[in-house]
Amino acid sequence: MRVRTFSIFLMALIFMSLSIVPALASSGETISTKQQQQMVNVAHRGASGHAPENTMDAFQKAFEMKADYIEIDVQMSKDGELVIIHDTTVDRTTNGTGFVGDLTLEELQQLDAGSWFSEEFADEEIPTFEEVLDTYRGKIGILIELKSPALYPGIEEKVAEALVERNMHKPNNNKIIIQSFNYESMQTSKALLPSIPHGVLAGLSWADVTDEQLAQFATYADFFNPNMNIVTHDLVDRVHAKGMEIYPYTVRTQEQANKLFELEVDGIITDFPEYVDQHPGEIENS
Ligand code: G3P
Ligand code: CA
Repeated sequence: MRVRTFSIFLMALIFMSLSIVPALASSGETISTKQQQQMVNVAHRGASGHAPENTMDAFQKAFEMKADYIEIDVQMSKDGELVIIHDTTVDRTTNGTGFVGDLTLEELQQLDAGSWFSEEFADEEIPTFEEVLDTYRGKIGILIELKSPALYPGIEEKVAEALVERNMHKPNNNKIIIQSFNYESMQTSKALLPSIPHGVLAGLSWADVTDEQLAQFATYADFFNPNMNIVTHDLVDRVHAKGMEIYPYTVRTQEQANKLFELEVDGIITDFPEYVDQHPGEIENS
């Protein structure tokens, strides 16, 4: 009996040690495995610290790194096709020039969307929205940003159609979130897709957002996703008090991730998913 009790004690000790090992930060401090597991890891424009933003390579890298979501920027071509690109022109991230909305899908897809980042990505093209949905549905969450939707009348309907066609508009189905800096667009989209969580993006000018403004956002939004530089404990608490979650953007260093862990946000939007999986400095509090 005593031997059995001792064996159980020994096994418990081994199990506890194994649980604690991954929670030890390189700095020697203990981190919270509970919080590490709960923090939602969103790969901004894919794992864009490792591969050219908004390309299939960047999304694949995020998937391999086990991010919870890829964040994608959706715009529309001249011929009404939904494409994934951040800027409203192709100048910065391709070898072409001109506005996205002035080029057909065929013209957009002839561009090299990878060489600007590194020659090894010279084959990368601008992906379509449907290509991303078909490749990653059920494999990784997709945080869909409608980028400059005022330039593309009807973009909310086209996004909704693509999701409904694939049965991706149901509650808790396939981890889809839609967000934008354009709040009118989010209200339109929420009316079309009431079961899909929506988010409002908030730049630095929202540092003094009031409770009344948060309450207004909460009438159609499930997320308040701000620039990380305006996040405080008070803001996190007030967003939560209105029933919304908060995923700040855009983390590019480990220190920035650590600060957001301390502020107890719900998710982190980052170019480097590894900073959200490993957050040395996080103090055990679970
Ligand atoms: O997801 C938040 C973030 O993507 C918003 O900023 O300019 O990178 O689209 P931006
Ligand atoms: Ca974005």
